[in-house]
Amino acid sequence: MTPLTALQELFESEAMGRDYGERISIRAHMLQCAELAMAQGMGDALAAAALLHDIGWGLIAMQGGEGTEGHQHIAADLLRPLFGPAVAEPIRLHVAAKRYLVATRPDYGARLSECSRETLAVQGGPFSPDECAAFEARDHFRAAVALRYLDDTGKALAEPTSRFTDYLPLLRRLMQSDGRV
Ligand SMILES: [Fe+2]
Ligand SMILES: [Fe+2]
Repeated sequence: MTPLTALQELFESEAMGRDYGERISIRAHMLQCAELAMAQGMGDALAAAALLHDIGWGLIAMQGGEGTEGHQHIAADLLRPLFGPAVAEPIRLHVAAKRYLVATRPDYGARLSECSRETLAVQGGPFSPDECAAFEARDHFRAAVALRYLDDTGKALAEPTSRFTDYLPLLRRLMQSDGRV
């Protein structure tokens, strides 16, 4: 099985069809995030990051685990060898980006969904000023913040208008961009 076929199987698995806590499935949420990235012309890497940022939820469930803790690292570690750091690292940082935005943008916390506000506490709450400065110094900081905004927006109750297979050409381009297989 090729890595892309394995990824498609995971994406289309029962685990990814679970309710995401926002009355839509994790799969629908990720598709909506990718659609927003495409509509905003954010480029291949960010669109792929949006499409795949929560696959860690499914991997945890498939391995018999519960909850979502560490889902950002599980996804990033899986995806980095396939698509490189521009896809994987914003995904790794998408939970931290919420803690950063809550600390730095007063209007941001107020706009978070109830579910997202609840998980924020579990995830460690807002960053301190020092943590914010360290976060801004990280590679892929801006992409992580952009992904976070997509993540917070891609929760409409409407059905997504795309499917995983629509993104295969984009994912193939990213895999080939510097000789990855
Ligand atoms: Fe997430
Ligand atoms: Fe998400």
